[in-house]
Amino acid sequence: MHPSRRKVPLFDTAAAMKQRKNGNLSIFVVVFSIFLFGVFMYNEDVKSIAEFPFSSSKPSDPRESHQEAKPKETILVDQESVKSTNPDQESVKNADPIQESIKNDEETTVTTTTLSVEEQTEDVKEGETEEDKKIEMAVVPEEEDDGEVEIPPEECDLFTGEWVFDNETHPLYREDQCEFLTAQVTCMRNGRKDSLYQNWRWQPRDCSLPKFKARLLLEKLRNKRLMFVGDSLNRNQWESMVCLAQSVIPPGQKSLNKTGSLSIFRIEDYNATVEFYWAPFLVQSNSDDPNMHSIQNRIIMPESIQKHGVNWKGVDYLVFNTYIWWMNTFSMKVLRGSFDNGDTEYDEVARPVAYGRVLKTWGEWIDQNIDPNHTTVFFTSMSPLHIKSLDWENPDGVKCALETTPILNMSMPFSVGTDYRLFAVAKNVTQSLRIPVNFLNITRLSEYRKDAHTSVYTIRQGKMLTPEQQADPATYADCIHWCLPGLPDTWNEFLYTRIISLS
Ligand SMILES: *[C@@H]1O[C@H](CO)[C@@H](O)[C@H](O)[C@H]1NC(C)=O
Ligand SMILES: *[C@@H]1O[C@H](CO)[C@@H](O)[C@H](O)[C@H]1NC(C)=O
Ligand SMILES: *[C@@H]1O[C@H](CO)[C@@H](O)[C@H](O)[C@H]1NC(C)=O
Ligand SMILES: *[C@@H]1O[C@H](CO)[C@@H](O)[C@H](O)[C@H]1NC(C)=O
Ligand SMILES: *[C@@H]1O[C@H](CO)[C@@H](O)[C@H](O)[C@H]1NC(C)=O
Ligand SMILES: *[C@@H]1O[C@H](CO)[C@@H](O)[C@H](O)[C@H]1NC(C)=O
Ligand SMILES: *[C@@H]1O[C@H](CO)[C@@H](O)[C@H](O)[C@H]1NC(C)=O
Repeated sequence: MHPSRRKVPLFDTAAAMKQRKNGNLSIFVVVFSIFLFGVFMYNEDVKSIAEFPFSSSKPSDPRESHQEAKPKETILVDQESVKSTNPDQESVKNADPIQESIKNDEETTVTTTTLSVEEQTEDVKEGETEEDKKIEMAVVPEEEDDGEVEIPPEECDLFTGEWVFDNETHPLYREDQCEFLTAQVTCMRNGRKDSLYQNWRWQPRDCSLPKFKARLLLEKLRNKRLMFVGDSLNRNQWESMVCLAQSVIPPGQKSLNKTGSLSIFRIEDYNATVEFYWAPFLVQSNSDDPNMHSIQNRIIMPESIQKHGVNWKGVDYLVFNTYIWWMNTFSMKVLRGSFDNGDTEYDEVARPVAYGRVLKTWGEWIDQNIDPNHTTVFFTSMSPLHIKSLDWENPDGVKCALETTPILNMSMPFSVGTDYRLFAVAKNVTQSLRIPVNFLNITRLSEYRKDAHTSVYTIRQGKMLTPEQQADPATYADCIHWCLPGLPDTWNEFLYTRIISLS
């Protein structure tokens, strides 16, 4: 196969400059706020929202206030010390003077599980395409399924367009028909009443996304591995892809095995896997254990990627991301030396600089380890947060919690505080490699989707939010992750478009 670079219009410079200006201003405001409050105030809001995989009722740790770096901090904390010293929260600073929350990985135990699929209601017979068709129609009503899938021209910019309400074709699967969804994302089952967030289709301006057909995707994945590598937003997208792929596979022919950093969804008939590899910074860090990571004290080794990279070799489709874990502090802690040598001292490096170092390391790994005839590489741009309803001019909003429609006024200027400096770095690096990388520019189009977050219809510390917590969205709403079915399905439509176009 010959993957080719996506041709997208150049970054709009006027918008970029404006963004930068806003960014600088916001950063100044934030730095100032931190200076004011950092020493004595630990933000209750942040503390209570963020997730930590170990239950803890301890009061907030004063070390979590944003003071200067403490050299020689313990890096690899064991579970007990985490329990005893960390509150259940970690803070995220966005490029906005609002303290942001970030959810930690909510998997609470290291387990190896294979989910059985007995409760699947439909009985699909193998190899019976008429049956399959009926099943697909049961999921997504459609008039004629025989039409050719029309692949958009390669030069079409898929990411510039608009959201259109389309309850005929979306959602692409039903929440209750994908048993592999985790409780983090099943918003309806978790009590969300409005469901229109599932009905929006992305319409590119100059072409259309091809109709989604699971069988077509699966044919492309036959005898192949598709792997998502990154943080919990990439896991969000992985869960979506599992659901998209599994809809036409009968029970017993599919399984999920979560072992350590790697989760493998396997489709027997096609000898295909859809995998997720946890590496929130891509490079080595003290957050690499998917179930147990240092919370407020994230430290990375920007030049160290081999340990993770060996797990990516030979995979046919690789989809990378890294963003949310960068957002809790303005600078990144960079280890002097190596975790393996027990080193604990670190330097504080400005976020975009550290991000550039990490992506440079990642890019070199790509260029040295990827055979472009065998592997197609994707990089997903940042998934935005919706923490402050004034960002979209809703003075009555509570974070993202009361939003039931996307931002639909495309001429309304708005910013949700995305750090576009990192976007620029990612765009630049991915386009400068010897190996072609498909840059999935999902950031702006996702910024419109204030309606699509899990909000209070999710879990925290592995447990469903209580009714009391759900009634307090100002504290508990998760405006980082996304409901499924939902927005990440659209990200996968881009991926699908590329995958069925190639080879
Ligand atoms: C990304 O897509 C947005 C529209 O969704 C567009 O405005 C922007 O220019 C694109 N950026 C790049 C680098 O392609
Ligand atoms: C789709 O939306 C329209 C307009 O809101 C509504 O009349 C119709 O019942 C909906 N159809 C489905 C299948 O939900
Ligand atoms: C099954 O898929 C794996 C992983 O892509 C591949 O290495 C192997 O050759 C495939 N097996 C067959 C029988 O094609
Ligand atoms: C899951 O994968 C692990 C690691 O490859 C393996 O040891 C284990 O047997 C698998 N579990 C099941 C139930 O297949
Ligand atoms: C990739 O395929 C092309 C054409 O089939 C061939 O010329 C080239 O040597 C291959 N590259 C590698 C790295 O195998
Ligand atoms: C859309 O936003 C623009 C700019 O803020 C504003 O002038 C216009 O009135 C808005 N349109 C609608 C329909 O609200
Ligand atoms: C983009 O990449 C080039 C070459 O690697 C580098 O010289 C330039 O500084 C980069 N620009 C940004 C904004 O990262």
